[in-house]
Amino acid sequence: MLLEVAKLHPLFGGEVTNVDLSKPIDQAGIDAIQAALDQYAVLIFHGPKLTEEDQIALAERFGPLEGQNGVLATNVAARVSRKLVDISNLDEKDDVLGTQDRRRMFALGNQLWHTDSSFKKTPAKYSLLHAHKVTPEGGETQFVDTRAAYDALPDKIKARIDTLQAEHSIFVSRGKLGFTEFSDEERRANPPVHRSLVRVHPGSGRKALYLASHASHIVGQPVPDGRMLIHELMEHATQPQFVHTHKWAPGDLVIWDNRCTLHRGRPYDEVNHRRDMRRATVSDLDPAVQDQRAA
Ligand code: OGA
Ligand code: MN
Repeated sequence: MLLEVAKLHPLFGGEVTNVDLSKPIDQAGIDAIQAALDQYAVLIFHGPKLTEEDQIALAERFGPLEGQNGVLATNVAARVSRKLVDISNLDEKDDVLGTQDRRRMFALGNQLWHTDSSFKKTPAKYSLLHAHKVTPEGGETQFVDTRAAYDALPDKIKARIDTLQAEHSIFVSRGKLGFTEFSDEERRANPPVHRSLVRVHPGSGRKALYLASHASHIVGQPVPDGRMLIHELMEHATQPQFVHTHKWAPGDLVIWDNRCTLHRGRPYDEVNHRRDMRRATVSDLDPAVQDQRAA
């Protein structure tokens, strides 16, 4: 199957114009999407809204989905299928979350540049984010291809960072916003992990920066030095010339490759508007392929 892909940005990103994800897709179609992801890193599909079952079934064609436990331990019923991540400002009754709601404050961290689940033992390979309700203003999602960002680094810096590892923790990104109210149980369930800062992206053979708001410091360096280096690299990678902004329409489904991208949500009027997105997350079962130097 030949995908028709319109390029969205000089460095990455494509809009697929000849696939309706609500119709059955054969294996050749899945292979073609995967090959296009290896090249473009972010693919945008427009179409009718998918049911949760269809979104889950589509995501599972690319590999096993992430475990169902979120970082926040809660007894509240989930608004969406346990196999999906609720990316919305809504509670279990479909009402707008209160300003003080922990779920809202935790979700604000999605507005910091990150790559999904870099803080987990098994990080994420692909994310498939599907728009149910969108906001009239704001609420865009921005993307960066960290292979392009790596390519643009001076050789001297490449040589300096090629063998380094960063420590990632969900509590680092949330702490940046001053959100630190996690229980001992939540902290114990999410210990920090070490990930190579530069990884070889398997599908393209290109080197990619592996960065995120979750990245704390460099293993084996004084914490302030490592933080400074990560801060510098994040600033470099997120310069305007590397960024593509996606403005959502209901029914859009965006797939991105977390191994070679950064993304962030943009702010919107969370009190007066409802934004309802749901994410299926495909696990990267073999991070060691990229973390060749991981202990
Ligand atoms: C995500 C995410 C940002 C957004 O779904 O993983 O970070 O725009 N989303 O909602
Ligand atoms: Mn995310």
